[in-house]
This record gives sequence, structure tokens and C-alpha cells, in this order.
Amino acid sequence: MTALSVSTSSAASLRADALVIGVAKGPKGIVVAPGAEAVAEAFEGKLTEVLGTLGATGAEGETVKAPSPAGLKAALVLAVGLGDAAEGGFELEALRRAAGVAARALAGAKKAVLALPAESADEVEAVALGGLLGAYAFGTYKNGNGGKEPVGELLLPVARKGSKDAKAAVERALAVGEEMNRARDLVNTAPNDLNPKSFAAIVQTAGKEHGLKVEVLDEKALVKGGFGGLLGVGTGSVNPPRLVKVAYTHPKARASLAFVGKGITYDSGGISLKPAGHNETMKCDMAGAAAVFAAVVAAKRLGLQVNVTAWLALAENMPSGSATRPGDVLRMYGGKTVEVLNTDAEGRLVLADAIVRAGEENPDVIIDVATLTGAMMMALGNRTFGVMANDDDLRTALHAAAGEVGEQSWPMPLPAELRKGMTESTIADLANMGERMGGGLVAGLFLKEFVAEGIEWAHLDIAGPAFHEGAPFGYTPKGGTASAVRTLVRFAEQKAAGGKA
Ligand code: BES
Ligand code: MN
Ligand code: ZN
Repeated sequence: MTALSVSTSSAASLRADALVIGVAKGPKGIVVAPGAEAVAEAFEGKLTEVLGTLGATGAEGETVKAPSPAGLKAALVLAVGLGDAAEGGFELEALRRAAGVAARALAGAKKAVLALPAESADEVEAVALGGLLGAYAFGTYKNGNGGKEPVGELLLPVARKGSKDAKAAVERALAVGEEMNRARDLVNTAPNDLNPKSFAAIVQTAGKEHGLKVEVLDEKALVKGGFGGLLGVGTGSVNPPRLVKVAYTHPKARASLAFVGKGITYDSGGISLKPAGHNETMKCDMAGAAAVFAAVVAAKRLGLQVNVTAWLALAENMPSGSATRPGDVLRMYGGKTVEVLNTDAEGRLVLADAIVRAGEENPDVIIDVATLTGAMMMALGNRTFGVMANDDDLRTALHAAAGEVGEQSWPMPLPAELRKGMTESTIADLANMGERMGGGLVAGLFLKEFVAEGIEWAHLDIAGPAFHEGAPFGYTPKGGTASAVRTLVRFAEQKAAGGKA
């Protein structure tokens, strides 16, 4: 894991493999960003010219390397593009991305100094978090990374004045960033290693480490409790399902939040088997469970003045002689019956059980997070998650919280007329499928049926952004992204501050 700390020494005096500065697009060519003053001095007024000659344009994602002149203790200067130079400072997301780009470019280096613009505590936090997330690499299975171990240590030079705030900001970045990287590890772990049982064991270990209360319902306890959704989805697999509860409580909590995560450790589709081309990345179908787990641990590390309970609905969706058939009827936790018309619409089945169980504890808010539908990816693409809710203010608050932390989301409706298809012509209370059109919303409407009266509920469909298949960008690597973690943490922070949700 990459180490991260602040230093009150001048950037010029810090010994490192590389010194990272920012360069932006100005109205009259490139401009060197604040934070690089010591570097500019060492270049004796020629820094902009040198960077221009080396091809720097200030575009987001760009990196330009130059050897250090005398006067800098670091061997190399790395200029990263920040995009357009805006008056009144750079957006926090631009800083996160630039720091992420730098950390990725410096894989293999031992130590780097991030002399990016970071005056306020928010800016320090953004640079620290971007650096930590960009430095992420998943090394569990590769023999020999070609010397490309993640950069060993990141140093943030900060002014002596305000260095206490800067330190606190770095601590916040570490709490969120390390838990996000843990969520990414879980998503990237191969599904022959991560199954409901091993996932639950990892949660138990982390719970002990952080002083969180963890309860695991195994298959016997699930049968006893009548969790027909989890059991129905898991019954085709040799790896039986689990329901995991992770509780963080604060003695002066201002609100109680329940975060429910879809944790399908592998989604083959079951008897309604997915065709080749659609199942290669389906280890990512537990990204929601990983996200709620990361969020509750981060809430604890931040000491937020709220209660947060994470519910991980874990199952493996496999076809076999014991698998649920299209046509089977399941009796869900709480008693509702569901006709399974398509075993590939399994996420809503495990979530329904967990949402009912979460509701029994009367939280103020339930937020579920799930890689739920291909339809949501069709609607919003690969980088934006959909936000649905039974409460307009809650949906607005979550969309806003996401924007504040640099996550792309969009509010989606739950149109009443789409509910019909799930309730008509069936032998059970509900079917697990309805109209094809608006499939992401139909799934949301299905979940809504399981939310107890009087509880605010929101549903984040992260099917698009949970797993990144393209080239890395900013602080986003290939594979698991830890989508929704920061949004959940920000939302909890707002509740802790007593702000209106
Ligand atoms: N896990 C999938 C959704 C998914 C697809 C996530 C692609 C990430 C990438 C989900 O369980 C699923 O299969 N949904 C079906 C529902 C349909 C059968 C009603 C879908 O979206 O096709
Ligand atoms: Mn499925
Ligand atoms: Zn699924």
C-alpha cells in the first residue's frame, strides 16, 4: 500500500524520484499551476518555455517529464495537465484526477512529491485521495509486475501555517482511499477465490480490526429465517449464500442509515444463462456489497456522528440440477412471493430479502447499491450511476452528494405504469421481470415493493461505473472502481453534520 504524508519542507528540498507539478491551459498558452513555485525558481524563469518545448499543452491526462535542474533534490520533474486554468482555483475533481494520473505515471518509483495546487484542506484532501487511488494496483495473481510496483510513497508539501488542517485532510483521504482500494481488491479478486463464505470471512476479519460488529447468517440461519430470495438465487451453487450485517454506532448519532449491497460473487445468469461475451466480467456483480462494506468502515474510521449498518446480500448465481428454474416461486423474507421468470434477474431477489431485513431495524434511510441492470448502462453509459428513490429530496441529496465528491450520477424516475408488468398474470404476488423497456426502472420498482412504510429509500444502480474496462484515466484503473463509496460517505457526513438529507 502506498504511504502518504505531508511535509512542511519546501518542495525543492525534498529528496524523491520525482516532483509532480501542475500545468494548465491558459488563454495565452500554458500556465504553471500554484504549488510549483520552487520548481519554477529552480528553472530560472524558463519552466513554461521548457514544458512548452517538450509538448505540454495542459490538457487533462497529459504527462510531460523533464530532468531536474540544480536546486531541486528530486531527480525528475513530472508536469501533469489540469485542463483549463479557471479563475478562483481548480475544481477538486481536476486535482484528484491530476494526482491520479501522476501516481499512475510514477508506478515503479519509490518516492514522489506532489507539488500540485493544494492550499485549502479540501484541496489537500483531493490531491491526497487522487494520488492514493491512482497508485492502486491489483497484484494478487501476477508473477512479476515488470518492476511496476505502485509508487511507494507520496509526499505533499504544505505550508507550516495550516499544516494541522492539512494533516487531518490527509487522514480523511486515507480513510476513504484505503477503503475504496479494499473494495477494488474485492471486485478484482477472481470468483473462484471470492465466494459468499470467503467474502463474509474477509468482512469478519476487517470488522475485528476496526471494532465493528459483524453478524453472518449462513445457509442454515437463512433457511431458519425464511430468506427465500438469497436461498433461491444461491441454491444452484456449491457455494451457499450469506447475509452479512456490519454495524457502526456512534453514541451521539444524529441519524441511522442502512446501506444494502448486492453481492453476487459471480453472475452466470443461472438457468437463464448469459451468453459468452456477457459473463467474463460478472465477478464484478458484488461491487455493491463491496461499496457498502467500504463505506461503513470509512464512516467508522472518520468517527462520523451517525449509525451506519451495512447489509451484504451474498450469493453465487449458477446453473445446476439444484438451481432455481424460470417458473419457480420463491417465498421472500417477510412473506411476499415472487415468480422467477428469469434467473438472470437475481440481484433484485437477494436485495429484496436484505431490504426487508434492514427495514426491521427502523433506520431513517435505506440506500441500496447494486450492479443491477444492463438497461441502466444503456441509459447512462459506463461512468454514470442512476439514482432512484421513493423520496424526491433524498434522490436530489444523493445526486448532489455524488457531484461534490466527483462521482457522476443522474436522477431517474420510478414511473407507476411500469409496475404493472411485474404484478399482472402471475401466480405469485410479483414476478421478477416486467416490461423490457425501462428495465432499470422496473428493477427499481421491484425493490420499492420491499421497503417498509415510512422509510426513505434510494437505489443506486452502479452497473455502468462499477467496473472499468477501458484504458485507465485520472485515478480510475482498469477493473473495480469502488463506485458509490464516496457518495455514501459524503451522504453519511451530511447526516452526521445534521444537514438535511
Ligand atoms: N448483473 C446483471 C446486470 C449487469 C449487466 C451488471 C452488465 C453489470 C454489467 C444483472 O443481474 C442482470 O443480469 N440483469 C438483467 C435483468 C434482466 C434479465 C431483467 C439485465 O440487465 O439484462
Ligand atoms: Mn443477472
Ligand atoms: Zn447480477
